[in-house]
Amino acid sequence: MSNFDEKIVEYKSVLEPKLQTLIEQADIPEELKEAMLYSVMAGGKRLRGSLLLHCCGLFGGNTEEALPLACAIEMVHTYSLIHDDLPAMDNDDFRRGKPSNHKVFGEAAAILAGDALLSFAFETMMNAIIANGYGKHLTDAAAYLTKALGASGMVAGQVLDMRQEKNADESEIMLKSIHEKKTGAIIEASVVAGCMTARADKKTIEALSEYGRLFGLLFQITDDILDVTGNIEELGKSTGKDKNSGKLTYVKLFGLEGARDLAAAVAVQAKDCIRNIGVSDGFLSELIDFTLVRTF
Ligand code: IPE
Ligand code: IPE
Ligand code: MG
Ligand code: MG
Ligand code: MG
Repeated sequence: MSNFDEKIVEYKSVLEPKLQTLIEQADIPEELKEAMLYSVMAGGKRLRGSLLLHCCGLFGGNTEEALPLACAIEMVHTYSLIHDDLPAMDNDDFRRGKPSNHKVFGEAAAILAGDALLSFAFETMMNAIIANGYGKHLTDAAAYLTKALGASGMVAGQVLDMRQEKNADESEIMLKSIHEKKTGAIIEASVVAGCMTARADKKTIEALSEYGRLFGLLFQITDDILDVTGNIEELGKSTGKDKNSGKLTYVKLFGLEGARDLAAAVAVQAKDCIRNIGVSDGFLSELIDFTLVRTF
């Protein structure tokens, strides 16, 4: 196993039991809890939570303190996937190697499971802040995450993505904006929030923010590529959907080879950001390498 794989296994082994306990121990109606746990515990790479924990540790923060925020971001991410798969949105039947939430529990329950995960993420972050005595580092990190997942971040990106099904604006600028918002915002915020929980300085946070922004864009470019080249067994979700629904993607605008070239170029820029912070860190750089060749 490479260092990167080992680290991911380590972060997952911290995140997953905590996610499960947080939801299991809460006072939630049984059928709602079942629908929440079905999607949250279905696997997933846990990249966002891992990035938050990693950046916290990298700059000397207390990762135990940051763990509720990392869990919150994985809850929000899962909610975004449940809603993204709904018939009114991407209408996808598979997610994380299993039937989508609404295929198992019905649309109403899937909408509510998403709502519940979003609000439970806030409850989790607020409880962590209160338990910590309102420390500014945690409050700042939570505020940063909050902005990224909402109306000017992820949700904004999803609105633009849906608008594109009507071929509104097929420019590269629009495409980049969709990807940076619908996927990049939460990823970038996971990196920045991790730095904030460690009380990293402004210059470091700025460099890491740029890394997060570029990695987020790279991640969605490779998601576009995998929709064409991937297979459902490895990817855990249906392929060939973007073209059928008229989505604006890097493959649509630049072709498969063009999208691959752009991904490689963004990867180089992201790696430059790590070099600029002057901290030697294999994980952030290996994450880029992993993403360039990922099959899931
Ligand atoms: C899928 O994200 C949705 C996108 C933003 C592209 P991931 O590929 O990180 O999904 P999981 O968490 O591993 O299932
Ligand atoms: C998802 O983008 C972005 C989200 C906010 C969930 P996609 O619609 O391309 O993600 P997949 O391919 O369904 O995972
Ligand atoms: Mg979508
Ligand atoms: Mg989708
Ligand atoms: Mg996709």
